[in-house]
Amino acid sequence: MNLATVILAAGKGTRMKSKLPKVLHKICGDTMISHVINAVAAAGVKKTIVVVGHGADRVTSEVAGRAQVALQEEQLGTAHALMQAAPYLSGFQGEILVLCGDTPLIEASTLLDLYHSHTEAGSDATVLTATVADPAGYGRVVRNDRGDLVKIVEQKDAAPEEKQIREINTGIYCFAAAGLFEALNRLAPNNAQGEYYLTDILEMYISEGRRVGAVRLDDPIEIMGINDRVQLAEAEKHMRGRILNELMLSGVTIIDPLSTFVDKQVRVGRDTVIYPFTFIEGDTIIGEDCVIGPNTRLINSVVGNGVSIQNSLVTESCMGDLCSIGPFAYLRPGTELARGVKVGNFSEIKKSTIGEGSKVPHLSYVGDATIGRNVNIGAGTITCNYDGHNKWPTRIGDGAFIGSNTNLVAPVNIGAGAVTGAGSTITKDVPAGALGVERAKQKNVLNWADREKDK
Ligand code: UD1
Ligand code: CA
Repeated sequence: MNLATVILAAGKGTRMKSKLPKVLHKICGDTMISHVINAVAAAGVKKTIVVVGHGADRVTSEVAGRAQVALQEEQLGTAHALMQAAPYLSGFQGEILVLCGDTPLIEASTLLDLYHSHTEAGSDATVLTATVADPAGYGRVVRNDRGDLVKIVEQKDAAPEEKQIREINTGIYCFAAAGLFEALNRLAPNNAQGEYYLTDILEMYISEGRRVGAVRLDDPIEIMGINDRVQLAEAEKHMRGRILNELMLSGVTIIDPLSTFVDKQVRVGRDTVIYPFTFIEGDTIIGEDCVIGPNTRLINSVVGNGVSIQNSLVTESCMGDLCSIGPFAYLRPGTELARGVKVGNFSEIKKSTIGEGSKVPHLSYVGDATIGRNVNIGAGTITCNYDGHNKWPTRIGDGAFIGSNTNLVAPVNIGAGAVTGAGSTITKDVPAGALGVERAKQKNVLNWADREKDK
């Protein structure tokens, strides 16, 4: 397969009413342009050129390493956009797939079908079309009595009877490279928008006796072009549905797909159950037999097998098998929990490693700490890791028992098996096996309460 791809993505996306270039808006956790590039890559295309213009720098860094970039300085139309890719394809002999950066639902199989019908028919150009309920905004496909393609007419240039046509141009084409750029050079902007229309090349080819095909798509949702944020949400809904269906069919239970949000890259193991109002984002990987949610958000995290996480927020953290998180826990970046760790209600962990079987069950802050195995962190324990200038580490050895409401003023080391007295503010290291206690002796004033009452 000798196939290159050009993705047109220089337009501003005026109707998005956004500071961000249109193709950088996200759907299910990834930008529109990324979804298109991924579909092209999954189809096996090796050479991809993205035409950038509006927000060129940002779009360029988004596609870096995955595509070459051609700059269209002025947006003079889709044909003009494609022209900008010419220097990157000089001498290229095969077929060129052209698609738009704003059709994020497109799938590799559809691109391959288009390519195959194009090459099998020996066509010079093939356009992918679809029949839709509401064709507003799209170019209409005009066919003759024999059903052959005559031309594509844009909505703004269409006669009233042409506006009735429900077969539309998806904006996805396959061209033979031979002669393409020479023909593009000859197009003129004779239309309502004064733009160089790529669609005009089809009529030109037909008039010159070149072979032009049109392939109709069954599921038009795939080619949905995003022009505003209503369509963005619509596309998100469809992609989300696809992702959740795939997960369910692979053995994941999703109690309520309508209130569950999973990004495209996420992986979830079999027999994991996801409860409602849960967001699983980025490159998160979840093992088997977990219970996730309700009301949980996981971002770029790795979760072992048999883990339960409820009502919690977890970012860039790793959890070993059989951990139990929440309710109402907050795991911040750099948290690494070994097997069987418990982080309970209203506990926050940041950039800390916690060993197998250790527990932080209630109301604690653990930051910049290294905690051994089978350690119990009493309720209300705080690592005082920040002195106003620097962050300092806390180390707690295996089997230590930190009494409730202990302040561990870092840098500080608690030895293996050591104990701290409840309410202590520990500023000095506690040796292994020792008790560290720091608090005023209790004094009882006898009959004090009775005397107060009598006053
Ligand atoms: C285009 C098609 C229309 C089709 C529709 C499908 C033309 C003339 N019309 O219309 O037939 O039904 O797509 O969604 O081709 N772009 C550039 N540079 C430009 C202009 C556009 O890179 O100078 C890019 C845009 O960023 C976008 C794509 O080309 O990704 C399509 O442009 P857009 O303005 O959205 O075209 P439509 O009016 O939707
Ligand atoms: Ca469009």
